[in-house]
Amino acid sequence: MTKKRILSGMRPTGKLHIGHLSVLHNWINLQDEYECYFMVADWHALTTSFDETEGIEQSIFDMVVDWLAVGLDPEKCALFIQSNVKQHAELFLLFSMMTPLSWLERVPTYKDQIDSFKEKGKDIRTYGFLGYPLLQSADILLYQASAVPVGEDQLPHIEMTREIARRFNFMYKEQIFPEPKGLLGKTKLLPGIDGRKMSKSYKNEISISASKDEIWEKVRMMTTDPARIHKDDPGHPEVCTVFKYQQIYNEDEVAGLEEICRKGEIGCFKCKKILAGKLDEMIAPIREKREALADDPQKVYDIIREGNKRAEQRAQETMELVHKQMNI
Ligand code: TRP
Ligand code: SF4
Repeated sequence: MTKKRILSGMRPTGKLHIGHLSVLHNWINLQDEYECYFMVADWHALTTSFDETEGIEQSIFDMVVDWLAVGLDPEKCALFIQSNVKQHAELFLLFSMMTPLSWLERVPTYKDQIDSFKEKGKDIRTYGFLGYPLLQSADILLYQASAVPVGEDQLPHIEMTREIARRFNFMYKEQIFPEPKGLLGKTKLLPGIDGRKMSKSYKNEISISASKDEIWEKVRMMTTDPARIHKDDPGHPEVCTVFKYQQIYNEDEVAGLEEICRKGEIGCFKCKKILAGKLDEMIAPIREKREALADDPQKVYDIIREGNKRAEQRAQETMELVHKQMNI
């Protein structure tokens, strides 16, 4: 029996942070059940960073190393680079001929992103940025994927992909494209160390490969209950970032910690030490695997080359069907 296919991707933001782990675990859990394609979306990165491409090769490499270190298995899934599989560009172009402009203009993130870049003094109202969700639709449909494991923020893009699939199938009289579903993992939203969304741009992230010292440095800076001045002041864990982390990474002890925090029987320093220990336990194996891979870059490049090849073969199969239906 042939397996169903999934495709997913991430923009190359360089080394990943622990907020990415829940999506990655979602990918890893699907490796056996599906034929998997995982892609570095470097063209998507260009839609907003077209003027800052100098670090991109390193970012791609670092991200693939993190994928492998966390546990994606290149024997089971094709790990590849979007820009190395030119069929993505071709399908994007063909879709662009049949996609009403209004579909792209009404994507909820479109105007929001333009505004937030404008605040930073950057105008991203380009043709390419408008096409961001359409390029993503091409990424997915190129593999005739039936599902796409992503975070919740990506669901509007999956919905758009379903509409494109329907339109193409209807227009060219053949059910070439399945309508893919979004597969959400059990995402626990992880705040950054200052309590805001974890993001490199806020510098509030903890890297997937942080050293023991770096972990402590980040945990030491975490925001806690501001009402606690002395270590025996009663605490309010519900407003504390350290506590949110304890809930996720220290399930065994969290109930006890909550109780002694409320009674003022533990100081924040000690509570942070406990958390840092837990995070180090989680990160240490990833860090070790990462170091071994980073010492052998050739191996990583070989994995990518092989992934590109597998992706391209599969992509070409779809393009042949597309050509036939479109008479070109
Ligand atoms: N837009 C996705 C993100 O920012 C990245 C992406 C590009 C993607 N192409 C994709 C995700 C295809 C899933 C499927 O995270
Ligand atoms: Fe937060 Fe722990 Fe301090 Fe309580 S003791 S406020 S949970 S850091």
